[in-house]
Amino acid sequence: MASRQENRINSKKTIKQLIDKYQSDLPRDELEQVLTLVLHKKIEYIYKNPDKLLPRTSILSFQKLVKKRLTGWSLASLRGFKEFYGIDFLVNRCTLVPRPESELLVEVALKNIKKDFKILDIGTGSGCLILSVAKNFPSAKYTAVDISSSALKIARTNARKLKLKNTKFIQSNLLAKVPENKFDIIIANLPYLTPKQMSEPSIQKEPKSALVSGKDGLKHYQELLGQLPKYLNKKYLILLEIDPNQKDPIEKLIKNTLPASKVSFLKDLAGNIRVAKINS
Ligand SMILES: C[S@@+](CC[C@H](N)C(=O)[O-])C[C@H]1O[C@@H](n2cnc3c(N)ncnc32)[C@H](O)[C@@H]1O
Repeated sequence: MASRQENRINSKKTIKQLIDKYQSDLPRDELEQVLTLVLHKKIEYIYKNPDKLLPRTSILSFQKLVKKRLTGWSLASLRGFKEFYGIDFLVNRCTLVPRPESELLVEVALKNIKKDFKILDIGTGSGCLILSVAKNFPSAKYTAVDISSSALKIARTNARKLKLKNTKFIQSNLLAKVPENKFDIIIANLPYLTPKQMSEPSIQKEPKSALVSGKDGLKHYQELLGQLPKYLNKKYLILLEIDPNQKDPIEKLIKNTLPASKVSFLKDLAGNIRVAKINS
């Protein structure tokens, strides 16, 4: 790849020539997005200036990013942020890139929230779930937990960027360091993949510790469900993001730990079961 690339930069190129050259490597719209990062311009600039001659340094930076994209880095990782629930969240190599299907947790939490409710998010990563709820409903109290101090650093930065002061961040292995408190709504998108599912090419550059959970993908939720009862208010709502094929085993785990609860399952926009909804 390197020598092929070197041949390509012998001469200066226009935006159009550069994109034409690389269209066998990546879809055109992705190449255009990469170029917006290199040039620090909006996409309209790329569309409106096809004949703009690019300096060699820009061509080299473009090639470097195309190479990273080809080795599995997502566009969001190259960009350093991802839009989620209409908000741009900073991400880095320590945080999972927020997925559109997780917006369902935010929607349902927002439908059920009330003033002064206490909300807990376990495995907050970039903070995309809890900060989206907090931004849209400021008059509640929020606690976000993650085992990773690097992820929490990004989540705190996202909270500052959004000027949100109503969220407390705690570094903790599940609830181990969370002071005993009664929460009204608990949301969690904890790791839920099996080691076999981790072989999917599109997730190779995501942090494994954010995705894999024991042999069956349920180690985290099993442990969490065991810890949860003493953290629940009398009336509570728990939303757990799951893999579609975990419906039956998670229902069994929930019935073992919270026998009086009502369990239902919600589908994402693709029609796949995505969230276990547990009510008092
Ligand atoms: C699937 S990611 C979800 C991130 C974010 N909530 C989202 O929806 O994009 C799971 C997160 O759980 C965190 N995590 C993994 N094991 C944990 C544990 N034992 N206790 C707390 N957080 C954990 C990971 O660091 C990661 O940030």
